[in-house]
Amino acid sequence: MEKGLKRSCVMVVVAFFAMVHVSVSVPFIILHEIGTQCSDATNANFTQLLTNLSGSPGFCLEIGNGISDSWLMPLTRQAEIACDNVKQMQDLSQGYNIVGRAQGNLVARGLIEFCDDGPPVYNYILGWSSCWHRRFSSSGGICDITNGDVYRDYVQDNLAPSGYFKNPYNVTEYLKGCKYLPKLNNERPADQRNQTYKDRFTSLHNLVLVLFQNDTVIVPKESSWFGFYPDGDKEHVLPVDQTKLYIEDWIGLKALVLAGKVQFVNVPGDHLIIADEDLVKHVVPLLQDQESAAPRLNRKTKEPLHP
Ligand SMILES: *[C@@H]1O[C@H](CO)[C@@H](O)[C@H](O)[C@H]1NC(C)=O
Ligand SMILES: *[C@@H]1O[C@H](CO)[C@@H](O)[C@H](O)[C@H]1NC(C)=O
Ligand SMILES: *[C@@H]1O[C@H](CO)[C@@H](O)[C@H](O)[C@H]1NC(C)=O
Ligand SMILES: *[C@@H]1O[C@H](CO)[C@@H](O)[C@H](O)[C@H]1NC(C)=O
Ligand SMILES: *[C@@H]1O[C@H](CO)[C@@H](O)[C@H](O)[C@H]1NC(C)=O
Repeated sequence: MEKGLKRSCVMVVVAFFAMVHVSVSVPFIILHEIGTQCSDATNANFTQLLTNLSGSPGFCLEIGNGISDSWLMPLTRQAEIACDNVKQMQDLSQGYNIVGRAQGNLVARGLIEFCDDGPPVYNYILGWSSCWHRRFSSSGGICDITNGDVYRDYVQDNLAPSGYFKNPYNVTEYLKGCKYLPKLNNERPADQRNQTYKDRFTSLHNLVLVLFQNDTVIVPKESSWFGFYPDGDKEHVLPVDQTKLYIEDWIGLKALVLAGKVQFVNVPGDHLIIADEDLVKHVVPLLQDQESAAPRLNRKTKEPLHP
């Protein structure tokens, strides 16, 4: 009798652990846009809203002191700090998803590509490859920076957006002076591209690229889908599959597309204005994706572990 009781206890325990296992939600982090911080109502609400809608734990990941560092700290450093932070967060140790907001996506991609020994990233939502930031030259404080100055060391080291400003009229100068985006995009001669960055990006389970149809901040707005101007031309925009980044597959975007892992999503409205219905349709399902917690990955290679 006692034995029977013991066995049923064991069974209860097993059932309990089985339940715990299947109900494990993959946590997600939010990386916020420039000029904001996690404690702002918008970011706090967005994190809470996605947690409410998905049932998965969400964390807004702060970098440095928030608002001023989002402007002044070079993105290389921001991505390093993000990497250190996620490695210290116990909740993320089995892997996590990322939702990026505008500049936060440049940090996110640095986190995915550059972070050594970090936990795996499964799903990454909201892409933004490169940028011609219209407000960059037309709004307060930094309008004096001409295209020529933007690639100077002093600017590169002290103004975050300079790290992802690509001047299509002077790509040579951009490749030479810009310290972040060319590295992030593996925008290098073929023999100098870093295969590790590509492998890490390609290891994503899902990538969702959200384009805001009336985006007035990201120029061209198609760069949300990795489209961009051809060199020397600001009149036309090459769709993603006509860019060299895609054709030569610098970072593995093409591999992901061919594997059916990329969703190109189009929503009405201006920059970062996304209706709850669109969040529910395009974002929430990937935050609820519990399957993705199952495979245990090698922390270094991000490859599934084989028994
Ligand atoms: C934050 O969410 C609360 C509750 O949903 C809402 O009342 C408030 O207006 C929101 N604030 C912002 C800035 O979005
Ligand atoms: C999230 O859910 C909590 C509890 O139901 C609610 O109080 C809060 O207003 C919700 N927040 C948002 C941003 O939806
Ligand atoms: C590109 O930048 C370099 C270095 O500032 C300059 O010498 C060159 O004239 C520029 N080319 C064009 C087409 O603006
Ligand atoms: C590529 O990046 C990895 C990870 O940061 C680094 O260990 C490696 O040295 C880099 N390889 C080259 C050729 O730069
Ligand atoms: C987008 O812009 C067009 C043209 O300015 C305007 O007619 C339309 O109402 C805008 N749509 C949204 C959702 O803002």
